[in-house]
Amino acid sequence: MKYTAIVLAAGKGSRMNSTVSKQYMMLEGKPVLAYSLEAFENSRIDEIILVTGRGEEEYVKRDIVDAYGIRKVTHIIAGGKERYHSVYEGLKAASGSDYVLIHDGARPFVTEGLIHRTMEAVTKKQACVVGMPVKDTIKIADENGIVCSTPDRSRVWMVQTPQAFAYELVYHAYTEMVARQDCSITDDAMAVEQICKTPVVLVEGSYRNIKITTPEDMLIAAAFVRSEK
Ligand code: CTP
Ligand code: MG
Repeated sequence: MKYTAIVLAAGKGSRMNSTVSKQYMMLEGKPVLAYSLEAFENSRIDEIILVTGRGEEEYVKRDIVDAYGIRKVTHIIAGGKERYHSVYEGLKAASGSDYVLIHDGARPFVTEGLIHRTMEAVTKKQACVVGMPVKDTIKIADENGIVCSTPDRSRVWMVQTPQAFAYELVYHAYTEMVARQDCSITDDAMAVEQICKTPVVLVEGSYRNIKITTPEDMLIAAAFVRSEK
């Protein structure tokens, strides 16, 4: 069985307000993207497909992939305008894989253990996403900011990545989604849920597996790195 990781690093990071895209920012002396690439490199994943911004391919190969000795990277390809376009480019390059694990390059704290749990779950269930129960109470509001309802917290999860699927299943879902130009689908599991009607299983992640999104996330991330040293 062939397991491929698609690592997404083609975003602009607009919420970070920095000149360098967040996936390339230095986190305690190492680029954010290098952390997750090292985890996949040291895992039982067979190959890594890296999706970057157009024109960034050479920089990423030299300063990150080669500089940190990531040998499992077989393709470095340009992504697209929206995240789902980047995923679709990655999926096309992953043909011949049995299973794909789609991961945000902006999540440096994925571990080998979590990668292996995700690989086991997808082999059994065909579609799974890593997530954690929410800590805060969530409210659903109307367009005027008036609370309509409060979902039962024990059933609300925040989803992380990796999100993992049988290749044919997710490839079919994305081909349909791109054909429909359906931008309302914001994550990979949604495409599979809505287009394939396949049940998507939650895999327990970690509260450390944060996505670097806004400047304060870099402070939290630096504290995590220091605590592991
Ligand atoms: N991503 C991508 N291609 C895009 C958009 C996002 O590969 N067109 C990637 C990002 O690089 C990131 C992951 O998807 O690793 C999660 O997206 P997000 O946190 O939204 O990153 P950005 O889109 O870069 O940030 P923002 O939404 O603040 O602009
Ligand atoms: Mg985004």
